[in-house]
Amino acid sequence: MSVLRFGIAVFLGLTLMTIKAPANPETPAKVEVQPFGAIGSGQKADLYTLTNRKGMVVSITNFGATIVSIKVPDRAGKVDDVTLGFDTPKEYEDGKSYFGATVGRYGNRIANGEFVLDGKTYTLPKNDGPNTLHGGTIGFNKRIWTAKEVPSKEGAAVQFTYVSPDGEEGFPGTLTATVVFTLYKDKNELKIDYSASTDKPTVVNLTNHSYFDLAGQNHGNILDEIMQINATRFTPVSATLIPTGELREVKDTPFDFTHPTVIGARIDGSDEQLKFGHGYDHNWVLDRKAGSSNLIVAAIAHDPNSGRVLEVLTTEPGVQFYTGNFLDGTAKGKGGYAYPHRSAFCLETQHFPDSPNHPNFPSTTLLPGKEYSSTTIFRFSVK
Ligand code: GLA
Repeated sequence: MSVLRFGIAVFLGLTLMTIKAPANPETPAKVEVQPFGAIGSGQKADLYTLTNRKGMVVSITNFGATIVSIKVPDRAGKVDDVTLGFDTPKEYEDGKSYFGATVGRYGNRIANGEFVLDGKTYTLPKNDGPNTLHGGTIGFNKRIWTAKEVPSKEGAAVQFTYVSPDGEEGFPGTLTATVVFTLYKDKNELKIDYSASTDKPTVVNLTNHSYFDLAGQNHGNILDEIMQINATRFTPVSATLIPTGELREVKDTPFDFTHPTVIGARIDGSDEQLKFGHGYDHNWVLDRKAGSSNLIVAAIAHDPNSGRVLEVLTTEPGVQFYTGNFLDGTAKGKGGYAYPHRSAFCLETQHFPDSPNHPNFPSTTLLPGKEYSSTTIFRFSVK
């Protein structure tokens, strides 16, 4: 009897201790969901907020599986939102900049809106001059994705799925695309895992189009921030930003970011490639063993003022470094802040632009029965 009483007392004591235990001074890793608003059709979108124990908070909407904000501490512990975006889904729907979006079915450009697969020519919408950009007129960034929280030991995680019908935006095959965002509980890292499968041969190139300003999303331009890209070659382009097919050495050009370099140092130089891009808007060929797809550090960005550092790791062969050259102060973003020219940079991990028309580039063809998979990590720290 007394043993039983002792047992009950211990049990109650332990329970009370658990209830009364002082709150963990660090926030637990968690996902919270709240309504985000409606798009033009009346369809509603939600906002998923992932929090970790290290002061990082990431919000993602199922409209376009879009990263709406990434809040991270600076050197002094001050938290700022370091990505551009909007306060409502309707603004994302009307926007033309792909802020934070998951881009698909084919990220970046396909020349003349055309490619040949298994001897058949496919015609796509031309939504960027003579070319197709970022999946066509209504790409994956303008679709409502199905969302669910996924249990993960690593941290807070949310999964988005979109089924793109056969023939959508001209692409063959029903493509089921899934993107899982994981915010590590003990590291300021956001991991993005993409996967996709198809019922007919098709082409796939998924990326995330976050615009970063490490000083904070309402802090002018990024020309003083520092960039390193682990690539000794890039893919030069024509005047409409289609790769010529050449893999050009960056050595002795303004495209050499193999060592940390101030973004604005050479951006307005006379190099023809810079003229074509109105600044940097090119694909770098990441230094990796041909055919390998291990996770490597593609780029490291640093803001010397705030001390924030962003490392981008990827399994992809390329990265599009874009310096917000088309931003001109007309897009009013979060908090009503109008984003000026070059107020952010993008590091879009990807297969090379226009790969379906370049047999010498790593293939973007996906066959039925095969799984497309790709991982990118945005890792934040301070120095
Ligand atoms: C990519 C393209 C750019 C531009 C942006 C979106 O980075 O390469 O030319 O279209 O997307 O504005």
